[in-house]
Amino acid sequence: MKKHYKIIKFAFSAAFAGLLMAGFTSCGKKDPNSPGVEFMPDMYRSPSLEYYQTHTEDGVELDNAMLPVKGTVARGFMPYAYPNTPEGYEAAGTNLHNPLPVADRAKYEAEGEVLYANFCTHCHGASGAGDGKVGAKLPGPPPAYDGTLKNLSAGKIFHSITYGKGTMGAHASQLTQEERWKLVYYVQKLQGHGSDEVTDSAEKQ
Ligand code: HEC
Repeated sequence: MKKHYKIIKFAFSAAFAGLLMAGFTSCGKKDPNSPGVEFMPDMYRSPSLEYYQTHTEDGVELDNAMLPVKGTVARGFMPYAYPNTPEGYEAAGTNLHNPLPVADRAKYEAEGEVLYANFCTHCHGASGAGDGKVGAKLPGPPPAYDGTLKNLSAGKIFHSITYGKGTMGAHASQLTQEERWKLVYYVQKLQGHGSDEVTDSAEKQ
């Protein structure tokens, strides 16, 4: 009986020594750049979800990219009452006035100029002549602000920036309403309407 016990004890210590040896040698001569054993791989590489795929949660299959809850309204969203129709265009032209005070027009024009350089110059050209690098190549280049579009009203300018017109795309998702109104002031400047003129509806002058 005692002999058996001794054999078992010996076997255990031999196994333990073997493990220790293995442990030490694994820290030994291997590749010095190896990060070694990862004890908690999940901590280093979290199991990520791929875009536009599905994953299973509590047995339910869900889309990884979920749509916002129904009725969600984007931050800063302002409803725009005029539809994208010829009637909506005319109504916007008659009824809409720039809500940004004319007194601060110079400030808004300066801000509008920056927006214009980022979003419009490549088509309309720096002076609004319709000769931007992209615009000049369009089948119908944009008309000049101080030519054909000289008397386009503030509301129509706003409406067209919002929905786009012809080959010009809609800018409602890139520019807030306030930014679009700043652009209206700047476009009016390019139309050649001086700061002493009433600027919320150029068509009425
Ligand atoms: C892809 C080129 C392109 C870009 C970018 C573009 N436009 Fe235009 N824009 C046009 C073209 C082309 C027209 C003429 C559309 C027509 O009458 O068919 C036009 C027309 C207009 C008009 C006259 C609309 C009307 O009611 O007759 C205004 C105002 C205008 N653009 C302002 C802007 C402003 C401001 C920006 C920048 C936010 C901008 N556009 C960006 C191509 C562009």
